Amino acid sequence: MQISTELSPAPVSEARLAEILADPGFGIHFTDHMLTVEWTPEKGWHDARIEPYGPLSLDPATAVLHYAQETFEGMKAYRHPDGSIWSFRPEANAERMARSSHRLALPVLDPADFVQCVDELVKVDARWVPEASEGDERSLYLRPFMFASEAFLGVRPARHVTFMVIASPAGSYFAGGIKPVKLWLTETYTRAGRGGMGAAKTGGNYASSLVAQQEAIAQGCDQVVFLDAEQGRYVEELGGMNMYFVTRDRRIVTPQLTGTILEGITRASILELAVRLGYQVEERRVDIQEWKDGVASGEITEIFACGTAAVITPVGELVWDGGSVPSLGEGEVAATIRRHLVDLQFGRAEDPFGWMHPIVPAAR
Ligand SMILES: Cc1ncc(COP(=O)(O)O)c(C=O)c1O
Repeated sequence: MQISTELSPAPVSEARLAEILADPGFGIHFTDHMLTVEWTPEKGWHDARIEPYGPLSLDPATAVLHYAQETFEGMKAYRHPDGSIWSFRPEANAERMARSSHRLALPVLDPADFVQCVDELVKVDARWVPEASEGDERSLYLRPFMFASEAFLGVRPARHVTFMVIASPAGSYFAGGIKPVKLWLTETYTRAGRGGMGAAKTGGNYASSLVAQQEAIAQGCDQVVFLDAEQGRYVEELGGMNMYFVTRDRRIVTPQLTGTILEGITRASILELAVRLGYQVEERRVDIQEWKDGVASGEITEIFACGTAAVITPVGELVWDGGSVPSLGEGEVAATIRRHLVDLQFGRAEDPFGWMHPIVPAAR
C-alpha cells in the first residue's frame, strides 16, 4: 500500500511531550498524526495518508452515526530497553478486524495492509512511545477503526468506508499496585445472543454494555460479568476482558468461544503460554454455579481476567442482587503468566512464539 505523509507543522513540544508521557493516563492524549484510508466499491482501498491529528468533518447523514456500521481494534506498541519499538501479534488484530468487518458487512482490509498502516503511524510518531522499565508498563495504545462514512440514510452497507489509525500513550494499568477487580453479575442484561455480533469488535457491543456497567458502578463494583443469553447460566466475559479460572489440580479453564464472546488475543496467548509453562488448559462452558461452589469448596483457587489493557488482572469479589462470592486475591498462576507475557512484550524475555513484531529498530 502506498501511504503519503504530511508532517504536522505544529507537533507537541518535547517539554510538553515529556510531561504527557510521565503520566499519560488512558485515551486522553493523542499523537501528532493520524492515518486514513478510504474505500469505495469502484476504487477499493485508496488514498492512504498520514496527516496531522485533528477533528473530522462529517455530514450529519454519515451512516455510522445512525446505524453503527463500524469495527475497531485495540493493541499496543512497546519500547524495549535498547530503544527499539515493537507490537504484539498485530496480524492477530488484523485478522480479527477482518472477521469483524465481515460480520458488519464492511469491506475487509488486507491483514498485511492493516499491519503496514499501524507500523507507518508508529514510525512517524515514534517519540510518543514511552520508555518502560521493570514495573513500569507504559506503552502507546493503538486504535485502528473502520466506519461507514457514506452520507446516506438508507439501511444498507455503506458505499464509502473509512479506515483510520490513531494512537494514544497509555500509563501502567496498575500504577497504584495490583488491585483485584470487583465484579457485578448482571442478571438483567446480556451482551450478545446466538447469531448476533458478540464475537465482533464493534461499538454496538460496548454501547449495549454501558447500562450494565452503570449498574455495576452503582453497586460499588468495577466491571460487569455477562452470562449467556439463552440460559442465563454460563459465564461469557466481562464488558472488556475475557476470563480464566484455575482449579486446585492446576488446570486453567476459560469459557469456550461460542460466537458470543470476543476472541481476545490475550486470551489466546495465555492458552499457548500456559501449555508451554506446563499447565493443562481447558476451553469449555463454565456454569456460574461452578464459580460459586468452586470458590466455597476450594476447587477453584484463582480467578483472573485478561485483555490488552491490563494483560491480566486478578478478579476480586463477585456480587449480585442478593449474594456474593468472596475474593481469592491475586494467585501465583496469574502472577506467573502475567510476568511471562509482560516480560516478552517489553523485550525483557525470550519470545519463543515469534509473537513480537519489530516496527522501529534500536538507534545505533
Ligand atoms: C469485550 C472484550 N472482551 C475481551 C477483550 C480482550 O481482548 P484482547 O485480549 O484482544 O485485548 C476485550 C478487549 O479489548 C474486549 O473488549
